[in-house]
Amino acid sequence: MIELSLNILDITYNSIRAGAKNIDITVRADFCTDEMEISISDDGCGMSEEMVKTVSDPFTTTRTTRKVGMGIPLFKMYAEMCGGALRINSEPGVGTTIAATMKISHIDRPPMGDLGQTMTTLIGASPATEFKLNFVSDGKEYIFDTKEIKETLDGVEIENVEILSFLREMINENIENLIGGKIL
Ligand SMILES: Nc1ncnc2c1ncn2[C@@H]1O[C@H](COP(=O)(O)OP(=O)(O)O)[C@@H](O)[C@H]1O
Ligand SMILES: [Mg+2]
Repeated sequence: MIELSLNILDITYNSIRAGAKNIDITVRADFCTDEMEISISDDGCGMSEEMVKTVSDPFTTTRTTRKVGMGIPLFKMYAEMCGGALRINSEPGVGTTIAATMKISHIDRPPMGDLGQTMTTLIGASPATEFKLNFVSDGKEYIFDTKEIKETLDGVEIENVEILSFLREMINENIENLIGGKIL
């Protein structure tokens, strides 16, 4: 996995599997301080304190199809490799927040990749879930919210492939306009 948007995709799939109705993804890129933060917050089933402690260990997973869960360990590895850290806050029955920090200019930091693609893949996989993307950079903010989009669609389903491809372009254009030529 060599793009952060693919890490985001993987971590957010966990939230869908945890039965979340609402998932908030925040990407904060502060070029002045060279800090970035990616957080994924959900209202899914949550994890016990013990599960949180062991979940960043690659030999922990509740899935039966695969013995080794690598999503969280990989995200943690990239964060720590890039001068940051991974934090998990979770409460059973309430939800989970997973947040990773990194130095933007760190030589090992993977590129962001196609965040529009990640968002629309998630929507296609779970159209009833409400996804919100907050993209914040140097004091400017772009918000993409499936609740708002669904209201404007007037009966057309959000998982319609033409809608998804339009949304993908829209998200990427808005991010590009926000960071204005900077590389993320
Ligand atoms: N948002 C979440 N809500 C509830 N449980 C989670 C969440 N994220 C991860 N988990 C638990 O942690 C385990 C490990 O996740 P991960 O490292 O992505 O590996 P995998 O998804 O392959 O199991 C999951 O199987 C799940 O039991
Ligand atoms: Mg996973």
